[in-house]
Amino acid sequence: MSVMRTKSIEQTILEGDEPEYQLKKKLTALDLTVFGVGVVIGAGIFTVAGRAAHSLAGPAIIVSFIVAALCCGLAALCYAEFASAIPVSGSAYTFSYASLGEIVAWIIGWDLLLELMLGASVVAQGWSAYLGVFLDRLGITIPASVAYGSSFDLPAFGLVAVLTVLVTIGIKESMRVNMALVALKVFIVLFVIIAGIGYINTANYSPFVPEAVATQGAASTWEAPLIQTLFGLSPTAYGIGGILAGASLVFFAYIGFDVVATTAEEAKNPARDLPRGIIGSLLICTVLYCAVALVMTGMVRYDKLSSEASLAKIFVDVGKPFYATLISAGAVAGLTTVVMTLLIGTSRVVFAMSRDWLLPSGLGKTNPRTGTPVKITVGVGVIVALVAAFTPVGKLEYMINIGTLTAFFLVSLAVPVLRKRRPDFDRPFKVPFSPWLPWISAAICAYLMLTLPLETWLRFAIWMALGFGIYFAYGHKESRLAKGAAPAVSPPQG
Ligand code: ALA
Repeated sequence: MSVMRTKSIEQTILEGDEPEYQLKKKLTALDLTVFGVGVVIGAGIFTVAGRAAHSLAGPAIIVSFIVAALCCGLAALCYAEFASAIPVSGSAYTFSYASLGEIVAWIIGWDLLLELMLGASVVAQGWSAYLGVFLDRLGITIPASVAYGSSFDLPAFGLVAVLTVLVTIGIKESMRVNMALVALKVFIVLFVIIAGIGYINTANYSPFVPEAVATQGAASTWEAPLIQTLFGLSPTAYGIGGILAGASLVFFAYIGFDVVATTAEEAKNPARDLPRGIIGSLLICTVLYCAVALVMTGMVRYDKLSSEASLAKIFVDVGKPFYATLISAGAVAGLTTVVMTLLIGTSRVVFAMSRDWLLPSGLGKTNPRTGTPVKITVGVGVIVALVAAFTPVGKLEYMINIGTLTAFFLVSLAVPVLRKRRPDFDRPFKVPFSPWLPWISAAICAYLMLTLPLETWLRFAIWMALGFGIYFAYGHKESRLAKGAAPAVSPPQG
């Protein structure tokens, strides 16, 4: 079994271009930052933050946000180095192909599909929930048989279908829609912060770190964090443990900045603009999240926060129901952009895999008129729409988190590996203090993964087994490397 089949970087970015496999280069640094903010701010801040503050961290949820931002920030530096050095489509998948070999690339690509497709489905369901709340406030009721939480979630299905059409028409057009919706979403988040400041009662901040308590009816072994199962500890809420558990939950709120890297080939000047887009969007989101966390826990005592639609409910609690309606409308717009960006990211990862013949190559051809991989985009849209419509709302966030953390972990380890293997390679952006920072990044990712429940690990193991099955049944024999064919990829801009 050849496990270290690695494409050279020259192969990866210079040789064997085939025009029908190339994407148009249209995106600027601003487009990329908007793209990042568009996917990052979503259900994480609109719903998960309230849940995490209520049951895990209390007012110290702001510290959880900072810990999760630290983890993502270190991974973002690693992504930025790779994306500036190897600006081809497919994100972490492509980076690892050039540094760690085909099988690691496949594993990362497979993880990214889990993150992006499941993420799009979960957020589409969240969108459907907010739409229901918003319409309800206007006096319109969606029939229960096709509403959020039913056995066929029609709004979620319809949203994914419409967005798939937009994305298929062309990325620049989609970006324009995205830009308008992102502006609206950032406005709503700022509105929560500014309108909420006046209602802060500083007494709600005390205790800032509520005393740790044993979780009631302690989650069964399946549901307890793996680290507790391994070391025989009993699950606790609040205290330092609660802050860390909160960090691994609100990690979901940051997911998406890495998706910026999946559009590398469509950037006009990837070497300069990708690091700016990735780090810029992460910084903006961190500041907004910390401010929202502070306002939210200041307005309503942490144990009274609602676990659902918390940002809207805090305004109902302080007697401003109209603000709640406005925020629900903003959440509907905000979650739309998240789903769209995740759809684009998924199709770009599949695009890169099929271009390497790890998946059937016919899938990856771009349409000459739209410049987008139409077959893949439609295929991804259909799968996401069906998963969003038929999957019961559940614990999928954890699956998304474990897939993403695995990709971050591997990308972090790959930075020093690639530097050692190819010290000569041009790196317009470099992670400072390598290898230490990449190693610390990998260690934090590993720790956060250990705080995820055992059942998440099992589901993840099943997903990975499926991935290995497909790889050894198809890609391992059919890939360009296996066949000794020249890679079909775009040269870097320059
Ligand atoms: N970060 C995205 C969200 O919060 C996935 O919805």
